[in-house]
Amino acid sequence: MIGYQCIRCGQEYAADYEGYICSSCGGNLDVKYDYCQIRSQWDEQNPFPGPRQDQFKYASLMPLSDIESAPPLRVGATPLHAVPRLGELFGLPHLMLKDEGLNPSQSFKDRASAMIIARARETGVGVVCGASTGNAGSSMACMAAAANIPCVVFVPEKAPPAKIAQLLIYGARVIAVRGSYDQAFDLCATVCEAKGWFNRNTGFNPFTREGKKTCSFELFEQLGGQAPDRVIVPTGDGNIISGIWKGFRDLHAVGLIDDMPRIDCAQAEGSAAISNAVQRLRASGEIPSGADWSSVEIAPVQADTLADSISVDDPRDGLAAVRAVIESGGEAVTASDEAILDAIKEVARFTGVFVEPSCACAWAGLKRLAEQGRVQADQRIVLLMTGSGLKDIQNARKVAGEPTVIDPTVEAALEAVQT
Ligand SMILES: Cc1ncc(COP(=O)(O)O)c(C=O)c1O
Ligand SMILES: [Zn+2]
Repeated sequence: MIGYQCIRCGQEYAADYEGYICSSCGGNLDVKYDYCQIRSQWDEQNPFPGPRQDQFKYASLMPLSDIESAPPLRVGATPLHAVPRLGELFGLPHLMLKDEGLNPSQSFKDRASAMIIARARETGVGVVCGASTGNAGSSMACMAAAANIPCVVFVPEKAPPAKIAQLLIYGARVIAVRGSYDQAFDLCATVCEAKGWFNRNTGFNPFTREGKKTCSFELFEQLGGQAPDRVIVPTGDGNIISGIWKGFRDLHAVGLIDDMPRIDCAQAEGSAAISNAVQRLRASGEIPSGADWSSVEIAPVQADTLADSISVDDPRDGLAAVRAVIESGGEAVTASDEAILDAIKEVARFTGVFVEPSCACAWAGLKRLAEQGRVQADQRIVLLMTGSGLKDIQNARKVAGEPTVIDPTVEAALEAVQT
């Protein structure tokens, strides 16, 4: 790691910069590397030799000086399943599903939280703290428990009960805010500042992206040393999608891939600030060509969707997300809550993977892209399934149907299984 660059205005900072965000414009920072040096230290035939077999096997492309600082749990190394039965419903035989629900706390967020814990240990910070709609917090609580670091999490009071239970069971100090995620986010930042804690807030902390990008490295290896053609990413704050794009940019910069994938953003119709910005930018044609994207504004929305993980008024890594979609030539698509609920059921029944509503939004969005001819049948498409369905059974139950209730008799049992 050689420093940072502001995603908004392009301003560069040295590696010893102590701020989280750009001091001149307030934009989020991207971590920069000396790719030539990284490459010169590699065995070209085996660039990621270990010793770990999880996301920390990619430590040479991460801002870590000592692998021992990473939490001991297995993070990442999730399966990539071919799901032709699901894909063929919409003429996409090469569809694949990356099952991130198999991470230790059952969501993609573990990739970021593990990176944050490692960073906190390396810099000697005593407490980690973050605001979360649920998954980022429960993931941080999980990793903090594994690494024995105190953890404080601000959540909106309305976060799904399973996620709050998870936070508490891992031993985090949980502050439930009678308000929105956005309010929790701001409160967290103020408290971290006052207490000198490490703020994990999505987008705001440049290191979350550095953990999330490891998913792209895995995809590259799982596809035999190639990028897929497209990755569909459920998007709220925009940090996951920008992490996925960063991973492929790293792979390109070190010369491991030539062809870059398109990164597609799927959002709920009721929480579509990033998609709106992409559409507006493309319609106006005013796409910046250099490192200065400060002319691009992302208008907040009043978020209203049942997909709580991607329900965001003012996306905290919105510009990085917009850049990921535009620079990769991807699409931005939205799905209604009704389509999201149907998609939970469809993904489960056609793949055996039970996902939470945000992920179902990725499938619902891809269906729409297919219907509109915005994806091609020969493309290798990855659906990024970021969280387990057990995180939000209340919504799943709305479409799951009901069991057949019977008296405990053989006649009733036989009759029940007849139809
Ligand atoms: C399961 C899941 N999917 C998708 C997202 C969206 O990620 P981002 O907010 O970085 O866009 C989140 C964020 O909380 C999540 O928990
Ligand atoms: Zn800036």
